[in-house]
Amino acid sequence: MDIKVLEINKVRINFKAPGLILLAMLMVMMPVSAASRTGLSSSLITEWESEVDRSECPDFLYPSHNPSIITGKKVYQNNCAKCHGSFTDVDPQLVSYMRKRTPEKQFEAVCGGNHNFKVRLTIDERWDALMYMRTHILGYYPKGSDVGASMDSLFGGNCAICHGTRGQGDGNLHKMLYPPPANFNMFKRLYTRSDEKLFNEISYGIPWTAMPAWKDRHDFDRHQDFDEEMVWKLVRYVRSFAYSQELDRLDKGRQRLEEYKKSIGESN
Ligand code: HEC
Ligand code: HEC
Repeated sequence: MDIKVLEINKVRINFKAPGLILLAMLMVMMPVSAASRTGLSSSLITEWESEVDRSECPDFLYPSHNPSIITGKKVYQNNCAKCHGSFTDVDPQLVSYMRKRTPEKQFEAVCGGNHNFKVRLTIDERWDALMYMRTHILGYYPKGSDVGASMDSLFGGNCAICHGTRGQGDGNLHKMLYPPPANFNMFKRLYTRSDEKLFNEISYGIPWTAMPAWKDRHDFDRHQDFDEEMVWKLVRYVRSFAYSQELDRLDKGRQRLEEYKKSIGESN
């Protein structure tokens, strides 16, 4: 058992004992080739990646709206926590692994192999759960939180002139720039970037575009250094444009239906 735990740590996935037993059972039942696909050692991750069976997720789809981490929490607890555990104590190795992964690649993972939830989970629910997982492991902070508020000011003072206060790429300068400033709400763009890539882009700028390098600069108005820690904060801030803290549309609909039923009941 100890060896298994070590091996799994290499994949930086947080397992709980029931998950292990389940996995062991799965592996016994699966043919050898499929067992290697579960990627139980880090050297297998890339191999596993290229072997993702896309037929299990035939129509790759972006979410129909900003993934909801509120609905995501529910989906996660019901479907994922049994293998991935809760996030009380996040392993730094897991963080550095997740930082290298793009949301798109991870969504593909949530569609295949161990994650064939095709029947029970909708595309949106899977995105909700994945983004909930990412907000916790990668430490994205909610809008309106203390950190979020201090970052509003830093982003507003340094980035909004190009990217716009809502990160839609519509700041005052946007019409003058080609390529135009990135719109952080665009799934197709942001979901193909890992956090590490965003970190490098913010740190060192993007050649031949207006995107400046920020690392080691200083914000004199707010007395803030753009050190490594600050750049990671900016990465998390940029990510916060692409998930929501409201209920998923489906859940909202259910809630409205309940309210409606109640209102009829009352008027009857
Ligand atoms: C039966 C156990 C099991 C369940 C249930 C499960 N997972 Fe996983 N998950 C795994 C294993 C094993 C891995 C590591 C190997 C792999 O990627 O297949 C993993 C890896 C992952 C990864 C990392 C993928 C990558 O390549 O970066 C993500 C993200 C993930 N799971 C999300 C989820 C979500 C979201 C759910 C719930 C909807 C979920 N998992 C449910 C077993 C499970
Ligand atoms: C002078 C205008 C300007 C300012 C100021 C600016 N950016 Fe940018 N930024 C751009 C442009 C233009 C691009 C798109 C470059 C491209 O298309 O390759 C970009 C791209 C990016 C990207 C890459 C997105 C992707 O798709 O990979 C990130 C992340 C980013 N900016 C973050 C920031 C942050 C954070 C700040 C403030 C600290 C900031 N930018 C300030 C112009 C600007």
